[in-house]
Amino acid sequence: MDTRQSSEEYARWFRGSTPYISAHRDKTFVVLLPGEALQHVNLTNIIHDLALLHVLGVRLVLVHGARPQIEEVLPESRYHQHRRVTDAAAMHSISGVYGQIRTRLEALFATGLPNTPLHNVEVPVITGNFVVARPVGIVDGVDHLLTGTVRRVEKARMQTTLQHGAAVLQSPLGYSSSGQPFNLPAEEVAADIAVQIRADKLLMLCDISHVADADGARISTLTPTELERTAYLSDEQKMHFACLARAVRGGVTKAHLVSFADDGALLAELFTAEGIGTQIVEQQSRSVRPAQAADVAGIVEVIRPLEEAGVLVRRERDRLEQEIEYFLVAELDGIVVGCCAVYPYGGHAELACLAVHENYRRQAGPGLGQGLLQAAHEQARRLGASELFVLTTQTKDWFLEQGFSETSPQQLPRQKQSLYNWQRNSIVMSKQL
Ligand SMILES: CC(C)(COP(=O)(O)OP(=O)(O)OC[C@H]1O[C@@H](n2cnc3c(N)ncnc32)[C@H](O)[C@@H]1OP(=O)(O)O)[C@@H](O)C(=O)NCCC(=O)NCCS
Repeated sequence: MDTRQSSEEYARWFRGSTPYISAHRDKTFVVLLPGEALQHVNLTNIIHDLALLHVLGVRLVLVHGARPQIEEVLPESRYHQHRRVTDAAAMHSISGVYGQIRTRLEALFATGLPNTPLHNVEVPVITGNFVVARPVGIVDGVDHLLTGTVRRVEKARMQTTLQHGAAVLQSPLGYSSSGQPFNLPAEEVAADIAVQIRADKLLMLCDISHVADADGARISTLTPTELERTAYLSDEQKMHFACLARAVRGGVTKAHLVSFADDGALLAELFTAEGIGTQIVEQQSRSVRPAQAADVAGIVEVIRPLEEAGVLVRRERDRLEQEIEYFLVAELDGIVVGCCAVYPYGGHAELACLAVHENYRRQAGPGLGQGLLQAAHEQARRLGASELFVLTTQTKDWFLEQGFSETSPQQLPRQKQSLYNWQRNSIVMSKQL
């Protein structure tokens, strides 16, 4: 790849990330770093990417696991239903392991990330007694001793810490009201924190890069129920991933499963439309609303590929800003994925710039294109128009299906006729409202 090509690709990727940068600012993400991720050579890159998220205004709660590290010091642990039974001696060793991990992570964030573009960036990391635990107790006759479960999270205290610009580092530990420490499963801690502090995302770094279907193809989005029913995961994976379903059912908007071994996977999942891992959502929230100045970057991302392909006429960006009041945008989970404009011409209105990002076309049920068209009808009526017309070169059939019929440039409002581009030779279509 030559330098020009790579700089173009880089610029394209960076521009494409703009809507996500604004969407993630001031949001809270809980990130689960399992013990395996802490042993992986990619850990430094992960820390770097987390620091980048911090710089971009994301509030981070980092929950670490320690399964392989504990296995090393306690190879003879007793388990019941995949839960480690923790006696007092084991708790002593486990506390030591957690202390070492916390020290290492704090050091990684405190170094100012030398030899990286973030070498002057400090990420303040706070640990604390944020989790209140209770014992699991006796299950099937097995006393779990100091193995516990989350009773509640000191959410106000955790939120204040996050608002002051620090990341929270949480070990899978909790304290009972009498001050007794309990060992907790990291997945449960991450999910419960995410639910209780009303986090926007739970991100789980894991040893697979995505959930795949029977043909090995990546499944990019699943509901919690679909995740539980996926046949292509082992029982152990399902158990670990159960926290993702649990968080989403508890009100966390999205949970993501991303590989800890692939450099940049976290960023690709968070800053590209297609993602790279698998996201778990209860139901995508979609809406069509009038555009605002802050939507310009998102609109440009949707229309640029279509302008480059000649499907849409190129609009100068300052004109787009000036005309933003004529635009409507379709949003999916807070991200602009489609747009259209409605311009008044006396008793007529022009529908222009109708586009849906290619990754979000042909959605189940009425698609986003139809949603935008419906909103455009309403907008045109509000503007006093009795007819909506559109100029198209490649989308005639779609408009026919939506009740438009072909007419001629001579039927256009006079003002529009003078702007008609005969070279482009667009088909004129219209619909009575
Ligand atoms: C036209 C467009 C807005 C529709 O968005 P959408 O959200 O996918 O719309 P819907 O889900 O309501 O409709 C999808 C259906 O339209 C069909 N369709 C999409 N583009 C089409 C086209 N150019 N010609 C004919 N049919 C088309 C799809 O094949 C699909 O049909 P199917 O489900 O039977 O296979 C979207 O395809 C788009 O952005 N296209 C590029 C931009 C464009 O052409 N804009 C119009 C400029 S005048």
